[in-house]
Amino acid sequence: MPDCTGMTAGQKDGPDPVPFPQDRTCPYHPPAAYDPLRATRPLARVTHFDGREAWLVTGHAVARELLADRRLTADRTRPGFPAHTFRFAPSRERAALLGVDDPEHRAQRRMVAADFTLKRTSALRPRIQQIVDERLDAMIAQGPPVDLVAAFALPVPSMVICALLGVPYDDHDFFEEQSRRLLRGPGPGNVRDARERLGAYVEGLIDRKREEPGAGLLDDLVRRELRSGEVDRAYLVNLAFILLVAGHETTANMISLGVFTLLQHPERLAELRSDPGLLPDAVEELMRLLSIADMLRMAVEDIEIAGTTIRAGEGVIFSAAVINRDESVYGDPDGLDWRRPVRHHVAFGFGIHQCLGQNLARAELEIALHALFDRLPGLRLAVPPDEIPFKPAEAVQGLLELPVTW
Ligand code: HEM
Repeated sequence: MPDCTGMTAGQKDGPDPVPFPQDRTCPYHPPAAYDPLRATRPLARVTHFDGREAWLVTGHAVARELLADRRLTADRTRPGFPAHTFRFAPSRERAALLGVDDPEHRAQRRMVAADFTLKRTSALRPRIQQIVDERLDAMIAQGPPVDLVAAFALPVPSMVICALLGVPYDDHDFFEEQSRRLLRGPGPGNVRDARERLGAYVEGLIDRKREEPGAGLLDDLVRRELRSGEVDRAYLVNLAFILLVAGHETTANMISLGVFTLLQHPERLAELRSDPGLLPDAVEELMRLLSIADMLRMAVEDIEIAGTTIRAGEGVIFSAAVINRDESVYGDPDGLDWRRPVRHHVAFGFGIHQCLGQNLARAELEIALHALFDRLPGLRLAVPPDEIPFKPAEAVQGLLELPVTW
């Protein structure tokens, strides 16, 4: 039962709530302030930017149970829904897929699920390889040192998502910049403005495709909309928006952080170079160790779990970085080791919102890492590791720049 502080029995014995989120001091380790929370798995209390408290899920089994629980909503427009930062609070709109619950979510996901299967994604591999090779040619021609984020990690997923969706890559400066402002501000006005600009851009794009459909996934959806009314225009605009943003920013962060991490583990990198067959396992382990995205939910009913009650209206935050280092599931959780089983991590989420683009992201990471280390055997950081600037805590972790030479 909650006492007069609103805390249930058991919570009072735990550490004081820590503010959430916090910056990472090492890009591939969770913030040090979360360490005490690892001792009180599976649930901890954290405070938000506005002083409100929320639950932080830290245990692996409980995370998967809760992420599959329909008593948690993903609808960010509900009053009291948690937010990573003050900037996201005033500009909440209902995002396609990510922000809707079942049964609406099931209907939305069914429309695109077939385009993201393993089979469909495998068919894209030659195109991804071509994009990666062309970017590397350009980077090598430019000569060292280069910022790997600008020269490679960002353009590769950007070009891939453009090719897949049918978005002109010539517009990349615009949508990359608006995605950056959407996720990192710096103020609420920037977030709102970026959302409006991107929204207007995507609407224009969909309208042009309605006039003259081309060859991308969005064009196919437009054809279905015009033909049968099966797809609704507002949903199409919302979906295009989310695919464009989610489709490049996250993978770009994983490529740059993945390269940085491998360069910090030369023995593992040597192993990978001598046996590229290890790449799929290596990518999975990098996903687990780096865990760049958290998930947010809110309880709509009371939930009894792990001897505690999560009350209706309370925020529930899933820190993938902490959950994926649950020592009861992964031995030596802070180490980089792809020889142990690393499946079942939650770096792509779990449950109905599990990442739609995960097969694509895996293919991009495998191809990008393999080609980069294969063609540049002498690849190394151009500055000491502690001088690499990383993105502040918030929606998605990553590096701002990665100066490298070879
Ligand atoms: C390494 C790169 C990526 C990471 C780490 C990542 C991470 C995630 C996570 C954690 C979720 C679950 C969010 C939640 O439950 O609230 C998610 C959902 C989603 N991701 Fe990804 N993602 C990546 C790449 C991609 C790509 C390439 C695409 C698009 C092609 C994409 C599209 C989506 C979409 C549409 C959803 C929402 C799915 C739904 O609600 O049904 N992601 N992603």
